[in-house]
Amino acid sequence: MPNENSYEVALQKSNAIREGLAKTPDKFTMLTGDRPTGRLHLGHYFGTLKSRVELQDMAVHTNVLIADYQVITDRDTTEHIQDNVYNMVMDYLACGIDPDKTMIYAHSAVPAANQLMLPFLSLVSEAELARNPTVKAEMEASGHELTGLLLTYPVHQACDILFCKGNVVPVGRDQLPHIELTRTIARRFNNRYGKVFPEVDALLSETPLLPGLDGRKMSKSYGNAINISMTAEETAKRIKKSQTDSERMITFDPENRPGVSGLLSTAAICTGRSEVEIAEEIGMGGSGQLKKYVTEAVNEYFAPIRERRQRYENDLDYVKDVLHEGNRRANEIAEQTLGEVQDAMGMVY
Ligand code: TRP
Repeated sequence: MPNENSYEVALQKSNAIREGLAKTPDKFTMLTGDRPTGRLHLGHYFGTLKSRVELQDMAVHTNVLIADYQVITDRDTTEHIQDNVYNMVMDYLACGIDPDKTMIYAHSAVPAANQLMLPFLSLVSEAELARNPTVKAEMEASGHELTGLLLTYPVHQACDILFCKGNVVPVGRDQLPHIELTRTIARRFNNRYGKVFPEVDALLSETPLLPGLDGRKMSKSYGNAINISMTAEETAKRIKKSQTDSERMITFDPENRPGVSGLLSTAAICTGRSEVEIAEEIGMGGSGQLKKYVTEAVNEYFAPIRERRQRYENDLDYVKDVLHEGNRRANEIAEQTLGEVQDAMGMVY
């Protein structure tokens, strides 16, 4: 009997949910979000934003969270946070997230959702928190000490998901431990106080992770990412600067030729063609021709998105309105849920 929390089981459940979503979309409430630490890039777009829009347009209840409090899990500053949050809303809108269908909000603006942290913290042990592999990995990657918030932010993430009774969370494999913990918290709460919260499952991404231009993990700090918000010229410049190798013949070989292959993967995802097909077409054209092809592919795909984004950049009032309305709705939902929690716990005075 495979472990309920294994990747295989999560994948099976995720596939079952995919079927369910198509049949009865309105039975599902999706919640997912991003940390506002910078601009969203192509990895975010192809890894999750695109599928959020698809879920939204299937009439699933969709909620997108700007996880501003999570910024301070592993850094000591909230510098540029307001600018990052507004720009994140612009990225969302430009990519097709429709604020009439999807609730966009920042979790710091929803006190009642944050208050769930108190009862939830009582439902998990220190040992359970300490063995979360994602927390450990984040701590090591950031070089930051283990603060109380870094240790407990997966519980905070459970608040994010459960305040709106989310039951589908699109995530990458690395976030599975958090979904597991959310499920545990919901069950323990329901067992102890009475049923308030749903069963939560992960919706695992079907697209393989897009590497950065140099073939390494896409990351702002490596300078190997193309942001959605970049202009066509900035995109061309970044691609031009990316590292390839001295072999002229273009082949797809992620192991031995990470730079060339990262570029091919970027072109492939934007054109819907395969890496091998593109490599064969360019052949002896070398990395100059490859880079030209990638630049055109990216700029063509993102032209309409960037054009829309430009309009939002010029209308900050609208962007703020979208966020305020999302925050308002989130507060309504959070207060309702917190009321149910207090009822269940007998804290009614
Ligand atoms: N931890 C996620 C990230 O770092 C962001 C996030 C916060 C989130 N709360 C969430 C994702 C709830 C899914 C569900 O990107």
